[in-house]
Amino acid sequence: MSSTPFDAQHIWHPYTSLLNPLPCYEVVSAKGVNLTLADGRELIDGMASWWACIHGYGVPELDAAIHQQLESMAHVMFGGITHAPATALCKALMKILPQGLDRFFLADSGSVAMEVALKMALQYWQSQSQGKSKHRFVSLANGYHGDTFGAMSVSDSDTGMHSIYAGFLPAQLTVPAPQSSFDGEFNSAELAPIEKTLQQHHHDIAAFVLEPIVQGAGGMRFYHPEYLAAVRQLCDKYEILLIADEIATGFGRTGKMFACDWAGIKPDIMCIGKALTGGYLTQAATITTQKVAHTIGASNPGVLMHGPTFMANPLACAVSLASLKLLLDSPWQHRVNAIEAQLKTELAPAKALPQVADVRVLGAIGVVEMKTEANVAELQKHFVEQGVWIRPFGKLIYVMPPYVIKPQELGQLTKAIMGALMAN
Ligand SMILES: Cc1ncc(COP(=O)(O)O)c(C=O)c1O
Repeated sequence: MSSTPFDAQHIWHPYTSLLNPLPCYEVVSAKGVNLTLADGRELIDGMASWWACIHGYGVPELDAAIHQQLESMAHVMFGGITHAPATALCKALMKILPQGLDRFFLADSGSVAMEVALKMALQYWQSQSQGKSKHRFVSLANGYHGDTFGAMSVSDSDTGMHSIYAGFLPAQLTVPAPQSSFDGEFNSAELAPIEKTLQQHHHDIAAFVLEPIVQGAGGMRFYHPEYLAAVRQLCDKYEILLIADEIATGFGRTGKMFACDWAGIKPDIMCIGKALTGGYLTQAATITTQKVAHTIGASNPGVLMHGPTFMANPLACAVSLASLKLLLDSPWQHRVNAIEAQLKTELAPAKALPQVADVRVLGAIGVVEMKTEANVAELQKHFVEQGVWIRPFGKLIYVMPPYVIKPQELGQLTKAIMGALMAN
């Protein structure tokens, strides 16, 4: 069922026009890996609501955590107040984060977590004798870090269409996107332009910002762990903080708890979000080391200048804690590996098709890159008719299903993708 007339006229959807919106489907309920449309059709979800719903929908443990939290309080301000859901969550996260990342700022969305990360980096350098000169950021072409202004400034300007906001965004430094693929040979020559940029500008650079291993919205590209390890080393060499944006990759999506784990590195600042709450509520976190936190704290004025109204919302903290427990109690690694194996097998035949440029799979992420842009509206309709929810963008048809998806359900997703490619 396409969008209601009211919706089409009055409500913006992500990255759409209100004059000429793409069709929209009304969902009335979601359970397990199924979305139910207003006309009664059931769709198998291939998107996990943009990386977030790793356990699927209507999850009894997560429902219960929210109900239980509601009995004491839904929300309370975090200024001058603390509460058990926040402290319990941060304690639990400390056990799975790279060791030494143990100072938390609880934000209300991924983009805001990125803004806070940028502020942390700026304040860290302002607090030192190097003073205010370290104020720029270096980031990767094809990167994506959110839609707020700071986050946009470190995202790829083409894929984020930043030209619309030209003149308003701070100019940052961009280095070429990683080229060595995740499981190919690592070509160390690709570090040369990065080293050159850092050599030239390190006096100005506060931090290097990247999505570890998977560049998501900028092209669903998977790059080599040695690249990430090398960037960590270069940041150390040139005294630059490393900000790892794990908002999409965190909580097992790539087959490791965090994508940084593939390279065994610890960033100075890490952002998490999306799957943090199991996709139930909006919450994210910016986490740093004692060194960064204490350096900021020891300076004048010493305060980190950020404080969202819904910071550390108790419902979001409670459901995040429950989601983390559910993940850790589950055979998540086995599930993600099984999804990876099945996606590799079932999407492999697409490689031979003339309209396909590449097929790649990492963890519970499967991508078919076409040679030309997809007609989103048409493809979307095809997928819905096939009983699946897959939302392509640009040249990419991709899936990142909830980890609880069954082999037969995943098979329906890959069958629908192969069918769409054959029909093209
Ligand atoms: C890597 C990455 N960083 C940041 C964000 C922004 O998160 P949010 O949409 O919660 O603001 C996203 C969202 O897609 C993302 O994929």
